[in-house]
Amino acid sequence: MAFPESFIEELISRNDIVEVVESYVHLNKRSGSNYFGLCPFHNERTPSFSVNPAEQFYYCFGCGKGGGVINFIMEIENLSYPDAVANLAQRAGMKLPEDRYDPNAKKRSRLLALNRDAARFFYSQLATPEGRAGTEYLRSRGISPATANRFGLGYAPDSFQSLLKAMQALGYSEYELFDCDLIRKSSRGSFYDTFRNRLIFPIIDVRGDVIGFSGRIIGSGEPKYLNSRDTPVFNKGRNLFALNLAKKSKSGYILLSEGNIDIVSLHQAGFDSAVASLGTSLTSEQARLISRYAKEVVLAFDNDGAGQKATQRAIQIFEKLEMKVRVLQLSGAKDPDEFLKTRGADAFRLLLEASEDQIDFRMNSVRAKYDLTKDEQRVAYLKEITEMLAGLPDPVVRSIYGERAAGLAGVGKDTVIGEIERSRRGLLRRAGRSEQKAMRRPEQTAQPARSTARYRNPASAVAEEGIIRLLYLEPTLYSMKGLPPPDAFTSEELASIYRLLLSRRQSGEAVSISSLSSSLTAEEMSLLVSILQKPEQLSGSQQTMQDYIHRMEEAQAASSGSEGRDLRAIASDLRERKGYNQ
Ligand code: GTP
Ligand code: MN
Repeated sequence: MAFPESFIEELISRNDIVEVVESYVHLNKRSGSNYFGLCPFHNERTPSFSVNPAEQFYYCFGCGKGGGVINFIMEIENLSYPDAVANLAQRAGMKLPEDRYDPNAKKRSRLLALNRDAARFFYSQLATPEGRAGTEYLRSRGISPATANRFGLGYAPDSFQSLLKAMQALGYSEYELFDCDLIRKSSRGSFYDTFRNRLIFPIIDVRGDVIGFSGRIIGSGEPKYLNSRDTPVFNKGRNLFALNLAKKSKSGYILLSEGNIDIVSLHQAGFDSAVASLGTSLTSEQARLISRYAKEVVLAFDNDGAGQKATQRAIQIFEKLEMKVRVLQLSGAKDPDEFLKTRGADAFRLLLEASEDQIDFRMNSVRAKYDLTKDEQRVAYLKEITEMLAGLPDPVVRSIYGERAAGLAGVGKDTVIGEIERSRRGLLRRAGRSEQKAMRRPEQTAQPARSTARYRNPASAVAEEGIIRLLYLEPTLYSMKGLPPPDAFTSEELASIYRLLLSRRQSGEAVSISSLSSSLTAEEMSLLVSILQKPEQLSGSQQTMQDYIHRMEEAQAASSGSEGRDLRAIASDLRERKGYNQ
C-alpha cells in the first residue's frame, strides 16, 4: 500500500476505535472486556455488535462483519481504503502524506480545482455589467455583499457557453466540465453551460472543497433550483449546504432548514449554525454528519404540510442517533427567511428559546389527528398518546404530559397516568427479556455468524485458526521451531491470512488489525477478527501452539484418501526440518 507504515500506525493510535465507533453507534457498558451495541451493518433489536478496546477491533456476532478502525470507516461510510484513511486523518487532524500515488486522487483534485475555478468565475460575474441581474436579485432578497462574500455566492450569465469558454481558457477539458456537471450535452451533441441566469450557491464540504453548485432562478420560473447532479466529487445525500460554516458555530446545536435562501438569511441574522439538505429529503448519512458537530439539532422546516412531514421524518432519523431534537414552530410565516424579514432576528431568537422539544411536537401531531369532541376518537387518541408517552424514560415527564393529555381528552389524570405506567411496564418487560438475554453473554446468545461447517476439514481448520490466533496475540511465537508452512493448511482462506502474518512478522512490520486492513479483503478481515475474538489461553503459549500443530496433523492424518497421506508426509517432513522459519 502506498501509505507509509509509520503513518498508518500513527493514524490508528490517534483514532481510538471506541471513540470512532461511538460517533455512529451507541455503545453499552462493557460486558467482559468488550463494549456492545446495535450493529450498524444489519438490522437487529438486541446488541451483538462488539468493540474490543484492547485489541482495537469490532466484531458483530450477528452478521460476522469485523475489522479495525479503517475497516469500520470503509464499511460505514462506504469508502475505499485510501478514502477511509483520509477520513480518519482528517478526524485526527493529521495531514496526508503528499507523494502517495493514487490515480483517483489525482482526478479528484483536478475536478475540485475546476469546481473552485468555476466558483471564482461565477463570483467574478457579480462585478460585471452582465452580472447586474445577480446583484440586483441579491439586493431584492436582502442579502448583503458581506454575506454574499461569506458564502461565495455568484451569478451564472444568461448565455450558453460563457463558463465553458472561461474554463477551457484555464486549460480544463470539456470532459472535465462534463464530469463536474458544469456543462451538459444537447440532443445535437453540443455542450452548453448547465447553469444560466441563476444565482449560484457553491456547495462546500467540511474540508473546504467546492464540491458542487446549487443555482436559483432569478425571479420566478421553473425549475426554481437546479442542483449539480452527483459527480465523482459530489454526493447530494452525504453533504449539507453551509456545513462548512456551521461546523465552526459555538451555538452547540445545528439548525436544520430547507431553502438555500433561508440558510443565507439565517447566517446573516447571526444564526450561524444553519444548514440545509440539497434538494432531497434528509438522509441518515446527513444526520450522522450533523451529529459529528453537535449533539442537538433544531428543525426549522417550512410551515406547511410538506414541512411537517419532513419534520416527522427528521425526528425519527435523529432519535436513532440519540440526538436531542427541538422543533421550531414558525407562526405567521412560511419559512425562516420570511419570518426574519417580517419579525426580525430578535423574534426568531425568542422562537428558538421557546422551541418545543420533540415531545411537544409529537403530542401536537397526535392531537391534530383526532376530533376530541367525539367519544370514540377520544378513546383512539388516548390509546395512541399513552403508548407514545410510555416510551419516555423520565417518570416526571411522563406524568406531566399524561396530565396534559388527560385534560385535552377530558378524562381524569390518574386514569391516564395509570394507563401510561401499565403500558410502560409491558414495554420494559418485552424489551428486558430480549435485552437481558443478549447482555448476559452476547457471544453465546447471538447467532454464530460463521461456522466451521464450511471448512473442508473442520477439525484441522479449528487448529489452523488456533495457530493464527496465537501467532497474532503472541508475537514471540513467530520464532518458535516447528511452525507449519502455510501450504500445510487445509483452508485456503486461513492459509492466506497465515501467510500474511508470517511475512509481516518476518519483515519486522507491525501486526495489528488496522495495519493489516490494506492487505486483506473485507471477508478475510472479518474471518480474522472472528478468530481473534474466541478465547485463548496465553500462559504456556508455546505448549498451546504445539498442541494446535499436533491437532492439525492428527486431523489431516485422520482424513481418508491420498490427501491424508500427503499431508501426513508434509507434517513429518516439517518435524524433520525443525521449523519453517529457521
Ligand atoms: P425562496 O425563498 O422561495 O427563494 O426559496 P428557498 O431558498 O426558500 O427554497 P424553497 O423553500 O422553495 O425550497 C427548499 C429547497 O428545496 C431548495 O433549497 C432546493 O434545495 C429544493 N428545491 C426547491 N425547488 C426545487 C426545484 O425546482 N428543483 C430541485 N431539484 N430542488 C428544488
Ligand atoms: Mn424557503
